[in-house]
Amino acid sequence: MEERPKKLLILYATQTGNALDAAERMGREAERRGCSVHLLSLDQYDASCLPQEGAVIFVVSTTGQGDTPDSMKGFWKYLLQRNLSRQWLEGLNYAVFGLGDSGYQKFNFVVKKLDRRLLDLGATPIVERGLGDDQHPSGYEAALDPWMLSLWNMLNTINYKYFPSGPDFLIPYENLIAQPKIRIMYHDIDKVDSQLSTGSDLNHIELQIERARKMSAVKYSLDKNRPDCILKLVKNQPLTKSSSKDKEVHHFEFEFVSSTIEYEVGDVLEILPSQNPAAVDAFLLRCNLDPEAFITVHPLETENQLLDTQVPIKLKTFVELTMDVASASPRRYFFEVMSMFATAEHEKERLQYFVSPEGRDDLYQYNQRERRTVLEVLEDFPSVQMPFEWLVQLVPPLKTRAFSISSSPSVHPNQVHLTVSVVLWTTPFKRNRAGLCSSWLAKLDPEQRVHVPVWFQKGSLRPPPPSLPLILVGPGTGCAPFRGFIEERAIQSLIGSTAPVMFFFGCRNEDNDFLYKEFWLSHSQNNGVLSEAKGGGFYVAFSRDQPQKVYVQHKMREHSHKVWNFLSEGAAIYVAGSSTKMPSDVLLAFEEIISKESGLPQESAVRWLRALEKAGKYHVEAWS
Ligand code: 2AM
Repeated sequence: MEERPKKLLILYATQTGNALDAAERMGREAERRGCSVHLLSLDQYDASCLPQEGAVIFVVSTTGQGDTPDSMKGFWKYLLQRNLSRQWLEGLNYAVFGLGDSGYQKFNFVVKKLDRRLLDLGATPIVERGLGDDQHPSGYEAALDPWMLSLWNMLNTINYKYFPSGPDFLIPYENLIAQPKIRIMYHDIDKVDSQLSTGSDLNHIELQIERARKMSAVKYSLDKNRPDCILKLVKNQPLTKSSSKDKEVHHFEFEFVSSTIEYEVGDVLEILPSQNPAAVDAFLLRCNLDPEAFITVHPLETENQLLDTQVPIKLKTFVELTMDVASASPRRYFFEVMSMFATAEHEKERLQYFVSPEGRDDLYQYNQRERRTVLEVLEDFPSVQMPFEWLVQLVPPLKTRAFSISSSPSVHPNQVHLTVSVVLWTTPFKRNRAGLCSSWLAKLDPEQRVHVPVWFQKGSLRPPPPSLPLILVGPGTGCAPFRGFIEERAIQSLIGSTAPVMFFFGCRNEDNDFLYKEFWLSHSQNNGVLSEAKGGGFYVAFSRDQPQKVYVQHKMREHSHKVWNFLSEGAAIYVAGSSTKMPSDVLLAFEEIISKESGLPQESAVRWLRALEKAGKYHVEAWS
């Protein structure tokens, strides 16, 4: 008997929106093959229904140090229940795709553990798990494309008739009528005026941000719509020589103004950057949008619930606060939708080519490698006039940027300090590019009464008790959280006894980028927390002051005996800095040091460090 075509269930768990992107893309690819799709966030799915499903695709991301996205926590807890038998999921076919960053130790940890657990419970994998990697130049899509192709083929061979005409049959793009998922309503200014009046200026900014983010097509986690507070910038000081061609790093001091938030050393500050006003104006002009119009934005699926509760916002304010118009490399779907609205034939053809399998590399060259901005792409295809609904849905969201806090609240009770490297680079065609948040911060002048909306987050570097000996490794801006640690310990040492601290710092040149030089040196002298007299030490590796590279791990090896003594006395290790290779190189150095000093083979040293991590005494905070 001919089976009826099935609906394909795709469940996703996302923290920043990437897993949702990937899941939606998968859904569209399946639909192009004639398969109908049911797409759900894991927190909207009842895990007890799993045994009744024919096949399920999971798309889940790994966040921070191997953490599960918030929206997956309940589902995962259900799956871990002891009373679930090994046959519970017999008959379920599944596939998992993970989004992760190989710069982190626990690369795609969440999807790997989900895969193992599903197997344990008797489910059958349709294809091997796919592992997307943020470190790849074209991001997770590099792994997603080939993985999806094998998924469609294998899915077609199992019992279910997902693809009525086989997995190779594709509905042509021209025949796809896509609909935006949101509706915009325009409001009469006279009617909305009374709802807009608010309290103080700062209160007003917070409220506008909250309103705009609530309406955004991208769902921020709910508790993060409204900033924790607005900080006032009081100092912006370069820490590197301006003559140096290398990275520019700035020290920032912010003050609490209306409310004070309690934070601890090792915490992270998220900042909502302001966009370049010229870019926003150019975007509004290019897209024929009325900046003064008052709008509300309604996701179609929840439209009825929200109609009454949304307070209108000025279109321009909405764009400024939620749509990153200068963000690089819009996703592929952006090009797909553009192709629907291109009226010039040659533009339509080029866009259709870009989104076809044959055009993938050229799209990559044009879009990712050159890091074209949304605005540039729109300007390259002048015949495309995309409705605002589509733009709201597809322009990348304006995201907060996270920085490790570099101050101790005990020393600066009313302040928060940051150490920020200004992100600049050139594209393969030698176009200059700058990171939105860091370059905006670097230009800010404290004299101009600058207010910055922020959120406080717990960092992965938990504050150590004063009695815990510490080995800190933080090259470059990795030193930021440790400036807070040292400040804190210096205060603690005035009150009672504190355990010793070793700090390995690294930079390129002693004269150019020795960040906070005086600070470290002063704490290394006169019984300071880093002083030899206190049993500690400050060691700095200048990578480019001599012909051969010298890195923090070289300095660690030089002092291996002392490192081992510290570890034997129960020291905790903290590593912070650029995620590329440093954290894994440093881990390897620790393995070698332990093996050499203890006489144990390297495998035992690896186990030793794993146990240290399990005991919560090996912390890494890495960023790219
Ligand atoms: P480099 O830029 O000369 O290669 C802060 O960025 C410091 O960390 C710089 O001195 C940088 O050196 C160094 N660094 C780069 N890669 C590293 C790695 N894998 N391990 C340790 N330090 C590294």
